Amino acid sequence: MPITAQDQTWILETDHTAYSFGLNAFGLLTHAYWGPRLLTPEDYPPPVMGMNWASFNNPPHLTPEEYPAYHEMKFIEPCLKVTFANGARDAALRFQSAHIKPGDGQTSLHISLRDRAQPFEVLLCYTLYDGHDLIGRTATLVNHGTEPILIERMWSAQWHLPVGEGYRFSHLTGRWSDEFHLRREPLQQGVKVIESRRLHTSHHHSPWFAIDRGSADEDQGEVWFGALAWSGSWKIAAEVTDFASTRVSAGLNDWDFAYRLMPGESFTTPEAYAGYTPDGFGAASRGLHDFIRDAVLPHRHTAHRVLFNSWEATLFDVDVASQSLYAETAASLGVELFVMDDGWFHGRDHDRAGLGDWWPDARKFPQGLTPLIERVNALGMDFGLWIEPEMVNPDSDLYRAHPDWVLHFPDRPRTEGRNQLILNLGRADVQTYLLDRLDALLRENNIAFIKWDMNRAVTEPGWPDYDGEPREIWVRYVEGLYRLWGTLRQRHPRVIWQSCSGGGGRADLGILRYADQIWVSDNTGPVARLGIQEGFSQVFPASVMEAWVTDMEPHSWFNPQPAGEYLPLSFRFHVSMCGALGIGANITHWGEAERDEARRWIAIYKELRPIIQEGDLYRLRSAQTGSGFSAVQYVSKDKAESVLFAFRTLIPDPANLPPLRLRGLDPQARYTVEGFDGARSGLAWMNTDLLMPLLNFDSTLRRIRRVSE
Ligand code: GLA
Repeated sequence: MPITAQDQTWILETDHTAYSFGLNAFGLLTHAYWGPRLLTPEDYPPPVMGMNWASFNNPPHLTPEEYPAYHEMKFIEPCLKVTFANGARDAALRFQSAHIKPGDGQTSLHISLRDRAQPFEVLLCYTLYDGHDLIGRTATLVNHGTEPILIERMWSAQWHLPVGEGYRFSHLTGRWSDEFHLRREPLQQGVKVIESRRLHTSHHHSPWFAIDRGSADEDQGEVWFGALAWSGSWKIAAEVTDFASTRVSAGLNDWDFAYRLMPGESFTTPEAYAGYTPDGFGAASRGLHDFIRDAVLPHRHTAHRVLFNSWEATLFDVDVASQSLYAETAASLGVELFVMDDGWFHGRDHDRAGLGDWWPDARKFPQGLTPLIERVNALGMDFGLWIEPEMVNPDSDLYRAHPDWVLHFPDRPRTEGRNQLILNLGRADVQTYLLDRLDALLRENNIAFIKWDMNRAVTEPGWPDYDGEPREIWVRYVEGLYRLWGTLRQRHPRVIWQSCSGGGGRADLGILRYADQIWVSDNTGPVARLGIQEGFSQVFPASVMEAWVTDMEPHSWFNPQPAGEYLPLSFRFHVSMCGALGIGANITHWGEAERDEARRWIAIYKELRPIIQEGDLYRLRSAQTGSGFSAVQYVSKDKAESVLFAFRTLIPDPANLPPLRLRGLDPQARYTVEGFDGARSGLAWMNTDLLMPLLNFDSTLRRIRRVSE
């Protein structure tokens, strides 16, 4: 049993790690330990006692509580802040009961906390997932009383680091077309917040963190890391107190948030995950990758097909004839999935009209989508389609019929982003409309793949005719989104879904319960993309990362290529082969030589796909440091095969590149490495400096194979 209960302490053990807490002498549910798994239950320390510190801080302030509520003299960031009908605005949570629930592939511990004076209960749930060094946590508030309770903050978890100083906080920041920059910064007294107030996960911060003692690297050092499974507004707060306590909390953003919990109702937070590894940031990422592939994704371990997407080649200019031409060319290259992007539906010639009217445009597709789909299928490819269900253009039949269906405040102008407004997915009628439309689309057409987009952040998050607490919208919207997507998935289980939000604006473990893949960035310039993909890989496996080979404008501001030329096709392919390969270039403009080369890379990718999409990922050299030389390696789970990609961008001096050391091989087994002589042990290769003779804007792919004795 991975959970041990003794003397009102609980020890949660995964294969290599442990986490424990219990009741301290004041009866507070208190953290005790988080680190490597120890040998016996007696090895774990008891829950700590916090003493008074003069008359300004009493024990609750000084205690690392598992789920602190605002109460008494406690000024740390609490997980729970509520207001009761009688005007009381604090909560005194006391332990009530605990039980352990074994499940299929997981075991969970449920702790019930009750308030002394108020009839409500907080249920903490800790879940261990077999084979993963991770813990999932949620909290549920149950109103057992006869009056409503106003929830003003309810976070999923607070995680406590061992007492100490010098912690460093790693997180991801960015903006549209420039996502997933890794930042590392020291944590000092005070609160460091990363968040989204945008109603989607956002390009600006990701609901992920890693904390180390200041000196961990890719291969070594203790790392505590976590992620929140939520696709709306969220918050992660890392706090260092003046009493050497470091904790990180994750949950729904409390900014502009309130939720009225009626008698008999309950409210459950999204799940927050966290883990520990002594083996550096690389191991932390691989732990998350395995977990996402094994336990989160709806289509677990599905090999993603090489796709073509028409967006960058055609923009809105789609019709049967031109799309068929792209399809023929794509099929001749070995593409397996043909995706028609924006522009196919009623009135959609540009981004000023059409969103909301989800039926084929009669001018472009007079017989509907079937003739195109049949052509694509006859060419041996599956067919996929772009949608943006949550949005509406004011210039659409839908908006003309239902102007009250969008988020808005009374008597305020409705701020548009990309000429569109946001449908209120909290509303049942909006959900029903979208469900009917999209269900019909999927029933009437042989669609194997959907790219689900969301192209703006929120403004005026109002719901004027809602009879509940209007600030519930932050949760009701995302619940509506999940309900809609979940129902569509259930009705069409074979469809593969991709989450896109103007690129990587909706990348999180919550959406990955519905979407199988993420469109990482609208920036497909290969040099920028190297850095963006690396940041993305902190959290997500390569199978989730769709990456297109494109002709993105060499001169565009976000694409630092040398003026006047595209990078070599091999470089562009190598970059995109690091994820789920796709093509977004205008392939009809490619000459025979380019098509031949593309055909070759696509065939090689299909061979390497299981290693890249399902294997272990090692970041050998960072693309984000600006050194101009980066490398990433993938190793199959059985360690029989591996592949190395190395990239040189612009290094002005004719310097030798620093050597690379391979990782992840079986030290005892013998391997060959393409481009190097002889078969040597994994141990030898991992301790040999490998030099890559690359010129500027050059790249290489090296296959590594285990050889039989
Ligand atoms: C967003 C997506 C793009 C494309 C366009 C279509 O920007 O990120 O990939 O689908 O919308 O309008």
